[in-house]
Amino acid sequence: MAAINEDVFKKVISHCKEYGFVFPSSEIYDGLGAVYDYGQNGSELKKNIKEYWWKSMVQLNENIVGIDSAIFMHPKIWKASGHVDSFNDPMIDNKDSKKRYRADELIEDQIEKYLKKGKSDKADQLRTMFAQYMEASDLEGLKNLIVEHEIVCPVSGTRNWANVRQFNLMFSTQFGSDADEATEIYLRPETAQGIFVNFMNVQKTGRMKIPFGIAQIGKAFRNEIVARQFIMRMREFEQMEMQFFVRPGEEMKWYEHWKSERMKWHLSLGVDSSKYRFHDHVKLAHYANAAVDIEYEFPFGFKEVEGIHSRTDFDLKQHQAMCNKKLQYFDPEINQNYVPYVVETSIGVDRMFLLTLCNAYKEEKVANGDKVDSRTVLNIPPILAPYKAAIFPLVKKDGLPEKSRAIMDTLKFKYNCLYDEKDAIGKRYRRQDALGTPYCITIDYDTAADSSVTIRERDSMQQERVPIDKLSEIIDKRLELK
Ligand code: GAP
Repeated sequence: MAAINEDVFKKVISHCKEYGFVFPSSEIYDGLGAVYDYGQNGSELKKNIKEYWWKSMVQLNENIVGIDSAIFMHPKIWKASGHVDSFNDPMIDNKDSKKRYRADELIEDQIEKYLKKGKSDKADQLRTMFAQYMEASDLEGLKNLIVEHEIVCPVSGTRNWANVRQFNLMFSTQFGSDADEATEIYLRPETAQGIFVNFMNVQKTGRMKIPFGIAQIGKAFRNEIVARQFIMRMREFEQMEMQFFVRPGEEMKWYEHWKSERMKWHLSLGVDSSKYRFHDHVKLAHYANAAVDIEYEFPFGFKEVEGIHSRTDFDLKQHQAMCNKKLQYFDPEINQNYVPYVVETSIGVDRMFLLTLCNAYKEEKVANGDKVDSRTVLNIPPILAPYKAAIFPLVKKDGLPEKSRAIMDTLKFKYNCLYDEKDAIGKRYRRQDALGTPYCITIDYDTAADSSVTIRERDSMQQERVPIDKLSEIIDKRLELK
């Protein structure tokens, strides 16, 4: 089963390349580790994911507003937030393969292995010790666990390990043109700090009343020790984050609220609920008093897609102390000034993209007269699909292309559409199935006479004759959420 799933994952990766979804960055120079480019179809899907999130978080919630803060930020921000001192992962090198690993991930994989072999006692014992050492940042303890549990390097197969060391994940660069006066600054490792440092600006100019949220979508950068699993763990990626500012003492209520709201958002896209689970954090980040991940079952197992964190008043208090300015809110209902508490929802755009593709990728057998054909189809939720409709003239002559383009002109302002006149209709259908286009619309010789077209639905492959002026209604219906 595991082998089959690994196979599916490999197929998804090659599908991404073959159909213009994702390319390795700088490919003509042999690529750049864990950096990827989105192609002509991938960038449409990615844009739709961001828009779906933005609409549901900002447009549908009167008390949430969005911002777009700069990637470059004052270096003191990262000192205040704790990232300079604590944004580390424990890493370990294998002396034979010269490969570097995250010590915590090696141990977590070992726990999974024990569970798969039915050795739940061993898994529990390892999990308990692991939690203790992570909590105490005991690097020697982690190394001992790796040795005691005979964890081997997946590449060399040996147990020849160096010591576990901490590795800071932030990228730094020089800011300013004068080499002597240039300051070292960091590429932001999360978008959240851009929200915290704008808390007063937004609250005052937007006359926001607590509870309220500030959302943003943007790039983040982490020098990941082990970048693996395609766009799952990248060094440059994108986050969609929302900080919800609440009255102190009410944070757990809002934490539960956002936990459930975010899961509803995921399920609204029609993914089977058995593919999702919550995973409470064993070791809380330095800023959190509660944290949970929303995990999705990728072909390589359940992995985090989104985190919901109760961040207390840690960040605002830290910035208040560092910049020496009050970052407080006057609550007229209780007649008090306070530093608000924060509940954060943070989802990776790229992971959501990968989830969407892994969930959508299907290989199907299709009856074709006496023969059985096969097709690869992406059952992408129509609202996220790169194109909502593809327009085909049956043949490339007799005025059918002109008629098709005229229909496309009526639809293209509302929906992203594709025009295709090359190859036989069957081949064109297959191309659109592989891109996840929900509808193909064929214009034939009868169209001029009866003002109707054939519309073919992606998942059922059913074809129907419909009037041209009904097309928009049909597509709209399909874009409605369940
Ligand atoms: N502001 C909180 C924060 O950044 P996080 O759990 O480190 O929390 C949030 O990251 C989300 O960002 C993750 O759930 C994941 O979807 C995404 N993410 C984190 N690191 C990533 C990476 N290296 N590549 C792709 N996505 C990543």
